Amino acid sequence: MGKVKVFPSLLAADFSVIKSEIKKVEEAGADGIHLDVMDNKYVSNKSFPVEKIKSFYEKISLLLDIHLMIEKPEDFIDEFLNFNPAYLSFHAEASENPKELIEKIKSNNCKAGLAVNAKVSLDSILPFIEMIDFVLIMTVNAGFGGQKFIEENIKKIEELNKIRKEKNLVFEIEADGGVNTENSKKLISAGTDILVSGSTIFKSDSVSETIRKLKEN
Ligand code: DX5
Ligand code: ZN
Repeated sequence: MGKVKVFPSLLAADFSVIKSEIKKVEEAGADGIHLDVMDNKYVSNKSFPVEKIKSFYEKISLLLDIHLMIEKPEDFIDEFLNFNPAYLSFHAEASENPKELIEKIKSNNCKAGLAVNAKVSLDSILPFIEMIDFVLIMTVNAGFGGQKFIEENIKKIEELNKIRKEKNLVFEIEADGGVNTENSKKLISAGTDILVSGSTIFKSDSVSETIRKLKEN
């Protein structure tokens, strides 16, 4: 696997100055930006940031990573594919036809991922493992930023890494939720390729120092 990527989660950014927030993380060494979409159904929180993305997306050179935490993601997928994201993930159990949706995302030149909520088993994604480009492992319960990291979920990453090796697959593993400079090394050695981090990055005094530390292994 290549070098670890860091995607700051914009859920923790100040949207009133979003362009400078993105510029700040870009200059500090971020590889992409992570954007959460929530419908108040799949999760008990709502953030449907179509208009927000419109306000900045034309100017970004960072990879755009969209995480759909919504029921029936197929009903809303076109709105998000319009932004040409580099990565797009959804939760398999929220979709009526995950296979079809994965194919659609991939046919739009976007990496297709399946997200696994903290209490959901890897079994939910195994039927699709050979066709996806990445797996997002949630290390908190989906819905809110700033929650405490669930240590237990590192095991899921180790198991996924093992499956990847056994099956000779090349999908990336992304960890999302409560990621900080204390747990990043463990996540990387378990097999994580992409670290999503919201509050740790946006609340830090030196964003570049934090991103550098997150990437250390
Ligand atoms: C949680 C979201 C995460 C969240 C991460 O439902 O999927 O992307 O923004 O934020 P932190 O790093 O603050 O836990
Ligand atoms: Zn997320």
